[in-house]
Amino acid sequence: MRIILLGPPGAGKGTQAESICDNYKIPHISTGNMLREAVDAGTKLGLEAKSLMDAGILVSDEVIVGLVEERISQPDCSSGFLFDGFPRTLPQAEALIERNVNIDAVVEIDVPDQDIIERMSGRRMHPASGRNYHIIYNPPKTEGVDDITGEELILREDDKPETVKDRLKVYADQTSPLIAFYSDLSSQSELDYIKVSGTASPKEVTEAIFKELNT
Ligand code: AP5
Repeated sequence: MRIILLGPPGAGKGTQAESICDNYKIPHISTGNMLREAVDAGTKLGLEAKSLMDAGILVSDEVIVGLVEERISQPDCSSGFLFDGFPRTLPQAEALIERNVNIDAVVEIDVPDQDIIERMSGRRMHPASGRNYHIIYNPPKTEGVDDITGEELILREDDKPETVKDRLKVYADQTSPLIAFYSDLSSQSELDYIKVSGTASPKEVTEAIFKELNT
């Protein structure tokens, strides 16, 4: 199964990715997490990406496509994968088609902007795994620490309200055209285009996604 999760920053892509990947036994490929790992490791890519990410600006298509191409050539991707945060521009989506990477389903998670700004200020992340929590809607078992490792949770640099507003604008300008792109593609191919509302609880959103994926 090859799935794309599409939606604005904070729509719940990373949250839903965990259940979908567990269910289909496929790896979770988050370009945001890959970039954050590069930043933490201090690699050349990380140094270049950090200032862009902190400002909510997209990293270049060329760099991202190269990163994803390398990742999906690894053996754990042979029976599928889930893309979270990729593709994010029309050239990135076109790059998949040029490389004959066929996608089975695109799942769009729809959440209004005003809900997103509130969600982001409450998000806490476990940097090593990319697991996300929310202080109210999806709290960890013990405040401030990851459920699985017991390690400390952090607030992401790009979750400040001013930066979130910039990220929503980048989504509207550069990523939302993918909604029409994949809707059109689904009418001409085997691709399933699924749209769910992301405003219910995380568990209800998961149930809505599985209901659509299994029909
Ligand atoms: P990335 O890490 O991909 O960020 P994003 O797409 O902006 O998405 P987020 O991770 O912020 O949100 P999410 O939808 O995963 O929501 P989550 O599940 O955490 O990208 C970061 C940066 O990297 C970009 O700005 C760019 O610079 C660069 N980049 C990455 N990919 C790139 C690409 N392809 N091309 C170019 N540049 C790229 O949920 C959010 C919060 O809400 C959490 O606290 C969660 O617990 C809570 N929550 C989740 N679901 C619910 C619910 N149903 N109800 C209430 N709360 C909920």
